[in-house]
Amino acid sequence: MGHGVAMDAIRGGLGGGPRSGLGARIAASARRFGPLPWSTFMEAALYDPADGFYQAGGRAGREGDFVTSPELGPLFAAVVARALDRCWEELGRPDPFVVVEAAAGAGTLARDVLAAAPACSPALRYVLVERSAALRGAQGDVLPIELPAFVLGPIAADSDPDDDDARAMPGTGPLLTSLAELPAGPITGVVLANELLDNLAFDLLEWRHGRWHEVLVAAAAPAADELVELLVEAPPDVAAEATRLAGEPAEGARIPLQRAAVEWLRQALATVEAGRVIVIDYADTTDALARRRWGDWLRTFRQHQGALSPLQSPGTQDITCVVAWDQLAAVRPPDDNRTQAEWLAEQGLHSLVEAARALWRDRAGVGDLAALVARSRVHEAEALTDPGGLGGHRVLQWIIDGAA
Ligand SMILES: C[S@@+](CC[C@H](N)C(=O)[O-])C[C@H]1O[C@@H](n2cnc3c(N)ncnc32)[C@H](O)[C@@H]1O
Repeated sequence: MGHGVAMDAIRGGLGGGPRSGLGARIAASARRFGPLPWSTFMEAALYDPADGFYQAGGRAGREGDFVTSPELGPLFAAVVARALDRCWEELGRPDPFVVVEAAAGAGTLARDVLAAAPACSPALRYVLVERSAALRGAQGDVLPIELPAFVLGPIAADSDPDDDDARAMPGTGPLLTSLAELPAGPITGVVLANELLDNLAFDLLEWRHGRWHEVLVAAAAPAADELVELLVEAPPDVAAEATRLAGEPAEGARIPLQRAAVEWLRQALATVEAGRVIVIDYADTTDALARRRWGDWLRTFRQHQGALSPLQSPGTQDITCVVAWDQLAAVRPPDDNRTQAEWLAEQGLHSLVEAARALWRDRAGVGDLAALVARSRVHEAEALTDPGGLGGHRVLQWIIDGAA
């Protein structure tokens, strides 16, 4: 059974229908073509063009389904703006300086980075990459989005790429554009992804009776829409990879195989000619995940609640997985790997927060807007650095030296 066949059947061939109809379509596809790999199920649940969670309006934010660092408030973006300036300086202040934000959502981080007015702004070409058409559409509400050709390259397909008139002139940034996929590159600048890789489809393996098994998704009964797990012995190459990553763990242990995340990293590294790839996410190693209860690292979210089992009501809840960073390191070991709390401190979070703390001390009695903004900045810093929450995320950086 090819994954493509099953996906096509889920996409179009088995009828559209309301959001809750996705489970029925997946079940029908599994009956017709056989049980689906976990990654195929997850692709459909999150990204089905009609009913996938992210296509149908699922999103980060206080009003959304879960809160991420940029959605807490503007402090995270202010620190990112500092990090971008450092990178721009390291590269010798190039113009254009291209920042590709993968998983840009509705544009919150981009908006707040620009509001922080980084020194690189006049050179900045900011590319929001977001797979969900609904979220790409929402970016235009908060940002001045230009045509890609105007921001990234020749305006007309047949224009000469060496012709300066065909490109935006130096010093005219910041210019923004929005794409559904990573640009081809090569770029001088940064590819940044906050909480993207945990949302990319992975396969799921289980160690049982001394062997690795793939966890597949099947229809519960001939006529039912309910989905159930089915274990089948993993092919030898997959089993060998799982053993290399996690050894021979305890009975019932599970691990994710994150091939889509690995492929995304390969593409991101190939896009950058000089600069950095920065990945921020909750992360651990595969063998550590094998020792944890799998419900701790394979999670679902709906309106801020840890929601249902992943197979229930596909399309109505987020499905996410702690990123196995050792699998990414097999592409190329990161040049830097530290917690978000450590990374924020290194970028100067402390000075930004101290200024806010002093303002709050001075103006708490007045209780004006400036005082309230200062107080919320202090609270944001606490949440961003909480070791049991966002502060425990890992910031992985790959440095691409253009001269190498
Ligand atoms: C957990 S949200 C994070 C959004 C934002 N970065 C934040 O931190 O608030 C993940 C986002 O990644 C998007 N996404 C998934 N696959 C993608 C891909 N291959 N390229 C770009 N965006 C993708 C989803 O549509 C979703 O908006």
